[in-house]
Amino acid sequence: MEPVKVGVLGLGTVGAGVVNLLARNGDEISRRAGREIQITRAAVQNPAKTRECDTHNIQMGTDCRAIVEDPEIDVVLELIGGDGQAYDLVMAAIANGKHVVTANKHLIALHGNEIFAAADEAGVVVSFEAAVAGGIPIIKAIRESLAANRIEWVAGIINGTGNFILSQMNFEDVSFEEALADAQARGFAEADPTFDVEGIDAAHKLAIIGSIAFGIPLSFEQIVTDGIRQIAADDIEYAEELGYRVKHLGIAQRQDNGVALRVHPTLVPERALLANVEGEKNAIMVYGDAVGPTAYYGAGAGAGPTASSVVADMIDTARMMSVDPSGRVPHLAFQPDQITEEPILESDEFICGHYFRVQVADKTGVMAEITRMLAELEIGIEAILQKDPPTAEDDARVIIITKPAREGTLHQALEHIRALPTTRDGVVHYRVAEFED
Ligand code: HSE
Repeated sequence: MEPVKVGVLGLGTVGAGVVNLLARNGDEISRRAGREIQITRAAVQNPAKTRECDTHNIQMGTDCRAIVEDPEIDVVLELIGGDGQAYDLVMAAIANGKHVVTANKHLIALHGNEIFAAADEAGVVVSFEAAVAGGIPIIKAIRESLAANRIEWVAGIINGTGNFILSQMNFEDVSFEEALADAQARGFAEADPTFDVEGIDAAHKLAIIGSIAFGIPLSFEQIVTDGIRQIAADDIEYAEELGYRVKHLGIAQRQDNGVALRVHPTLVPERALLANVEGEKNAIMVYGDAVGPTAYYGAGAGAGPTASSVVADMIDTARMMSVDPSGRVPHLAFQPDQITEEPILESDEFICGHYFRVQVADKTGVMAEITRMLAELEIGIEAILQKDPPTAEDDARVIIITKPAREGTLHQALEHIRALPTTRDGVVHYRVAEFED
C-alpha cells in the first residue's frame, strides 16, 4: 500500500518527538497501521534552525499554506498551537480534504464544534488525543473503551504545571514564583504560563472531556474556572491537618439538574488516588455506571509522551482512511446528530463538600453562632478546626469542612457569617471532592 504522507505545521519539541518516534519504531508502526507513515514536508518559522531530529527526508520550508494545499499530503499535523493561524490552517486543510492530527487543546476547546462539523461534511478525520493529558490515552478510553457506559463523572489532574507547583510548595517549601520558574525551565509550562496557573489550560482540556463524556457540545465558555495563584500555604497546612491534600482538579459531573463543569483547587482526602499524584504527572478518574471507577495516570506533557499520542492518532487515521465515513468513530464520541445540549450548571448549583476559613474574635459563643447558621440551612459539618492566626492575639481562625451541600446555600451561610460583628475579615472558600477510587 502507498505510504501515508504527512505534512507538519511547526517542528518544535513535540514535532521533533514525532519525527524521532516514527524513525525509531517505524517498522512496528507500519505493522500496526498496515502502511508506512512518512513525514514528507514541514513548515517552520526558521528552517535554518537546528532541530532535535533528523530532517534529511523532510522537505523543510516556511509556507504552511503550501502544505495544506499540497495534493500529495494526506494528513496535516498541526503543532503550531493557539487558535489564530492554527484555526485558519486546520479549516483550510479540512476544506482541501486532508485529515488532521492536532495536539492543540486551545483550538479544539474553542472551535471544535465548528471544526468537527466541517470535517464531517468533508468526510475527513480530525484527531486530538494529545490535546488532553499528553501521553495518557484518555480520549480513546472514554470515547471507545468505555462506550457502553453512562459516564457519571470525570475528575482529574490535567495540568502538569499546576500540580508540579503545588507539589513543590508542599514538599520542597519553595514559593509559588520559584516553582513556576522551575516548571518553565523544565518545559512543561505553556508559552503563556497564566494559562496554567489561572486554570485556563485545564479548562480547555475539561471542555473536551465533558463533551466526549456526556455527548454535549464543547462548552469552554461555561466552565467555572479558578486557578492556583491565590492558594495560601496556611490552607494547605490546615487541609493536611484535617486529612486532605489541596489539588487542582478538572471535574465534569452529572447532577440531577444538569452538568457541572469546573476547574478549581480542591481538597481531596489524603488516601484518595488523586491526592497522591505528584510533580508534573497527570491522572484522571472516570466513573462509568457499568465499570465503576477507573484511573489513568502518566505524563501529561513532554516530547515522548505527546508524540506517543500524536503517532497513535496517525496510525488510527491511516486505518480509517479506507473506512466509509459513516463507519468511523465519531469525533466527539456520540454520533453528530446525537450531541445534545444539557444545562451547564452555574456554580451556585454545584453540590459538593466545602472548606472555609474565617477569622473571628476569640470570644465564647462565636463558634456556636457559626455552626448554628450552618445548621439552620441544613448544612452538615464534616470537620472543625480552630487555630491562632499568625497575628492578632485576640482573634481565632475557624476552619470548617462541610458535608456535600448546594454551593448557593453555602454562600448564604457565608454571607451571614461575614455579617457577624465578631467576624474580622473575608472568608476563604475551597471545594472538597470525595470521588470513589
Ligand atoms: N502546560 C501543560 C501542562 C502542557 O502543564 O499540563 C500539557 O498540556
